[in-house]
Amino acid sequence: MIISPAKSLKGEITIPGDKSISHRAVMFGAIAEGITEIDGFLTGEDCLSTIDCFRKLGIQIDTFPHNKVKVFGKGMYGLQPSSDVLYTGNSGTTTRLLLGLLSGQGFESKIDGDESIRKRPMGRVIEPLTQMGANITGMDNNNLCPLVIKGQPLHGIKYKLPVASAQLKSALLLASLYAQDHTIIIEPEKSRDHSELMLNYFGANIYTDGLDVHSAPVSQLHAQHITVPGDISSAAYFMVAGLIVPDSEIVIKNVGINPTRTGIIDVLTQMGANIHMNNTRTMNNEPVADVVVKSSSLVGTIIEGALIPRLIDEIPVIAVAAAAAKGTTIIKDAQELKVKESNRIKTVVTELKKTGINIQETDDGMIIEGGQTINGAQFESYHDHRIAMSMAVAGLVATNESFINGSDSVNISFPGYFKLLECLQR
Ligand code: S3P
Repeated sequence: MIISPAKSLKGEITIPGDKSISHRAVMFGAIAEGITEIDGFLTGEDCLSTIDCFRKLGIQIDTFPHNKVKVFGKGMYGLQPSSDVLYTGNSGTTTRLLLGLLSGQGFESKIDGDESIRKRPMGRVIEPLTQMGANITGMDNNNLCPLVIKGQPLHGIKYKLPVASAQLKSALLLASLYAQDHTIIIEPEKSRDHSELMLNYFGANIYTDGLDVHSAPVSQLHAQHITVPGDISSAAYFMVAGLIVPDSEIVIKNVGINPTRTGIIDVLTQMGANIHMNNTRTMNNEPVADVVVKSSSLVGTIIEGALIPRLIDEIPVIAVAAAAAKGTTIIKDAQELKVKESNRIKTVVTELKKTGINIQETDDGMIIEGGQTINGAQFESYHDHRIAMSMAVAGLVATNESFINGSDSVNISFPGYFKLLECLQR
């Protein structure tokens, strides 16, 4: 993909559905009674992996034009063993949530994914699930895919998460539905709570008390109509692009603004961004708004602590905003970036260095000296969708043309990304 410097970005756009919410709507719909209709489903490769796995588990899932999906739920005990390996592709959410769900089923399953998934730590999920009674075995001392899950009767636990991870929390919540007794999960910091909100929408019995999440077993979940809001993680590229490209104004319609995900808006505001939310409303327990950004002079900032889980997926594009800002930006407490689709501390620093800016890798983040000239470069995606999309934004404010190798990785979470970027160019 070739990215040319942009003069101005203007227009009103709608971005694809939220990835986390799309995965969950299929999964929870599959174990609910009745037909769950989903509107605004994200048809990116990750969510299609989830659909594929649940079809292999015996669930009828019909897809329609305009991102509509129907999941024919079979109830909590309706999943059937798959004769095939459940292939989760590049999707950490599919892999980890399935581990939780399959732990308490009355059959055996096998899970595997692509090269990136085979490197991502699963031990963090397997360890507490094993405490609940699960039987999961895999490579590297039961830490890596491929994994074999032998369904077992489960019991509740009280467990303090070693990392603020929504995938880990959600895997335990899914297992807790099948446990004989109550489960308490204690988070070090609050991670996204889409599972809690949506499971309750389907009739589960989950409540939060500060950083404690309590879940009681349930006998039934009930099908729902889910309208998926636009993904704030996808909107993030357009927020940053609209702020750093001169003479720009972008309206991003229908963006999910769940407070566990809006760290990007808080940080950009802190950096001096002209960013506003209009028309705030609620859809299936999830808050939604239209986000408006206008070109702004940004300044460097410090990003750390409890903010990190609220913007973990947006750090690559925040690094681009920081490169275009005046002054220094320091990102700390973000070790989790090392175990994402790529080691995002390394990949972001390596790629942004190519533009000539001064950026330094640290053990738990990076330090970016902003306000220097950004040169066009030959960027590598490392098959990481968020690296490809972030470097495209950097290319918009570069002095000359850039190239992105492996740009098709954007299809993992954002089919049509480059087209949408192009339509805004004036
Ligand atoms: C996700 C949780 C986050 C995020 C990922 C999607 C989810 O990971 O990075 O892209 O859908 O639960 P963590 O499990 O590290 O929070």
